[in-house]
Amino acid sequence: MSHMVVVMGVSGSGKSTVGGLLAERLGVPYAEADDFHPPANIAKMSAGQPLDDADREPWLDAIAAWIEERAGQGGVVSCSALRRRYRDRLRDAAPDLFFLHLDGPPELIASRLAARMEHFMPAGLLRSQLDALEPLEPDEAGAVIPIEGGPAQITDRAFAALPD
Ligand SMILES: Nc1ncnc2c1ncn2[C@@H]1O[C@H](COP(=O)(O)OP(=O)(O)OP(=O)(O)O)[C@@H](O)[C@H]1O
Ligand SMILES: [Mg+2]
Repeated sequence: MSHMVVVMGVSGSGKSTVGGLLAERLGVPYAEADDFHPPANIAKMSAGQPLDDADREPWLDAIAAWIEERAGQGGVVSCSALRRRYRDRLRDAAPDLFFLHLDGPPELIASRLAARMEHFMPAGLLRSQLDALEPLEPDEAGAVIPIEGGPAQITDRAFAALPD
């Protein structure tokens, strides 16, 4: 079966790492939600300013378009998707979209962020991301994936959580 999957979670939870490995394993295209941000959003994030929902509109539209184009063949997108309404927007593009939420202790995420200095997301935004996070609700197709262990182990977990 062709899976259309969003790997979600706060910055530093491992979305890009696991999303890329999972797409390889499934043999489907991979996209990085960060790449769909207009330059104005990247400038804001680089300055340590959180995005507002108006900033996110064109970003979510572009991700939704990517999903819609590939809904039949499958795909993996790494996208924070912290709020229910962002996930609803993406589900509009593919009703059976499956969300894998990479989740773990804030200290573990912070330590991984601290080890990654070159990225445009300052570690100080972790707190605001954790505050913004709305966990998956029972009516949403998805699973919570613990982030302890190495990337291959987490990818195994993610793969096993996918629907048949
Ligand atoms: N299982 C792991 N064990 C150790 N380090 C990891 C693991 N997974 C990811 N990392 C490292 O932790 C950092 C954060 O991971 P990654 O960049 O994949 O997170 P992200 O969720 O995509 O973050 P962002 O939302 O900021 O793009 C990276 O430096 C990555 O190499
Ligand atoms: Mg990433």
